[in-house]
Amino acid sequence: MAANPMDLGGATVLVTGASSGIGRDTAVLLSSLNARVVLSGRDRDRLQETFVRLEGDGHRVEPFDFNRPEEIHDWLRALATNVGQFTGLVHAAGIEQVSPIKFVRLKDADEVLRVNVVSSIMLARAFTQKACCAGPGSMVLLSSVRGLVGAPSMSLYGASKAALIGLAKSLAMELAPRRIRVNCVAAACVETEMLARSRELAPQSEFQALERAHPLGFGAARDVANAVAFLLADTGRWITGSTLTVDGGYSAQ
Ligand SMILES: NC(=O)c1ccc[n+]([C@@H]2O[C@H](COP(=O)([O-])OP(=O)(O)OC[C@H]3O[C@@H](n4cnc5c(N)ncnc54)[C@H](OP(=O)(O)O)[C@@H]3O)[C@@H](O)[C@H]2O)c1
Repeated sequence: MAANPMDLGGATVLVTGASSGIGRDTAVLLSSLNARVVLSGRDRDRLQETFVRLEGDGHRVEPFDFNRPEEIHDWLRALATNVGQFTGLVHAAGIEQVSPIKFVRLKDADEVLRVNVVSSIMLARAFTQKACCAGPGSMVLLSSVRGLVGAPSMSLYGASKAALIGLAKSLAMELAPRRIRVNCVAAACVETEMLARSRELAPQSEFQALERAHPLGFGAARDVANAVAFLLADTGRWITGSTLTVDGGYSAQ
């Protein structure tokens, strides 16, 4: 039988946002592809819920608050000392803020940019220390179609997700000589707790229109996890600096 080109045997992957939604399903999928995964997020109990769903062994739970990006460098370095070199990073931790620009407060902007953007920059810096990832390696940042396609009340979130696309392109150029690839996945609406929170806030008719704008309907976390795994594995070996749109056709129209 031919070898599975998505097999991740021998890989050690840090998955942030692993306590929920896309990060959780990604971690579970990667473990089923034989990767060893390190699960991060803030909520230890929910990380533990992900942990018990993993296949294989050697996995770890390592809580961290990405609202404290100044601590990322030392945290990741210590982690690599304990678990060994990483070959992959999936940064799915993120927050959404839905607000007309006139109501966006500096405090909100600061938090969204710290958690979504500054943490990505500092994670990339820390991950690419030789002690953490000597290469080859692969980083996948969870961007969003909101970084590509505008919508009312999404300026702050959209700005944060567009920043990741620019970040990935320059990192890809800088890190290609070390065989470290950097890509984004830009998902549209995926049925997770993040979307459930938006559903509670929006008028029903608005939400139904949003669903109709997705020709294939809203996605499942597993749909995005599949794309992340494809980029991490050997199937993505010639892909860097790209943004893979996974959106049920949302941005095709
Ligand atoms: N769902 C969608 O429709 C959609 C669409 C496009 C892109 N995305 C992106 O995909 C990623 C995952 O979203 P999701 O839908 O899976 O959301 P989710 O279910 O709300 O999960 C968000 C994850 O981020 C973690 N997180 C949030 N703030 C954090 C912080 N300060 N420090 C550490 N971890 C933090 C949460 O962990 P704790 O609660 O344990 O801290 C949780 O694991 C996000 O970057 C999101 O922007 C989502």
